Amino acid sequence: MYSLRVAVHLVDHPLVHDALAILRDAATAPELFRRMAVRISLLLAAEATRDLPALPVTVSTPLGPADGRRVQGDVVVVPVLRAGLGMLDAVLELIPSARVGHIGLQRDEMTAIASRYYSKLPSSLEHSVVLMIDPMLATGGSAVAALDMLRHAGARDVRLICIVAAPEGIALVEARHPDAQIYTPAIDRGLNEQKFILPGLGDFGDRLYGTH
Ligand code: PRP
Ligand code: URA
Repeated sequence: MYSLRVAVHLVDHPLVHDALAILRDAATAPELFRRMAVRISLLLAAEATRDLPALPVTVSTPLGPADGRRVQGDVVVVPVLRAGLGMLDAVLELIPSARVGHIGLQRDEMTAIASRYYSKLPSSLEHSVVLMIDPMLATGGSAVAALDMLRHAGARDVRLICIVAAPEGIALVEARHPDAQIYTPAIDRGLNEQKFILPGLGDFGDRLYGTH
């Protein structure tokens, strides 16, 4: 279905999978769901930023000089509303200096086609590392729509961080944005007739915010 022309980074860390198992569990209430969304997002964002450029520095400890490295360069975080907001604080905890853009997309409940209702992106994305955060990559329609907008705004290095991906979504991103990079801990079986990921975790936004 997809050929791995698009870079898919499968994040295989026990703490990531621990949080994912709790997120998947239908018995997990919104409070714990939100905490696990933050925890897993921190770990995934750390992986997606592994190659950020860093400059050598020398700092003074109380006992003398020590060599170190400080992260350089512009990082832009773009949550896809609304579910992506559940991942934002975690990424900003890691990279407080990041600029933040917002993209609002909503899947139609009948057709699963995403339509845009909001967009506000920072300027000058050409040299930025853009972390697009959206927990669910299902049909890929939302991801492709968001990637189209980011490319149109000039972004070149875009890394999509998601919590569960379906093969169909990866295939669509690969077909339309083969130079994007995808970071995910899980590639699930596929989609059901309503285009929900199987086994997935249900509707992420509803579980995060307690809406049904
Ligand atoms: C969910 C999810 C993704 C999208 C994935 O959002 O957060 O954005 O569906 O599905 P796709 O790959 O088939 O496009 P939804 O549209 O339900 O909105 P919400 O975040 O406001 O709940
Ligand atoms: N959006 C979700 O929140 N879950 C899915 O399984 C698919 C789209």
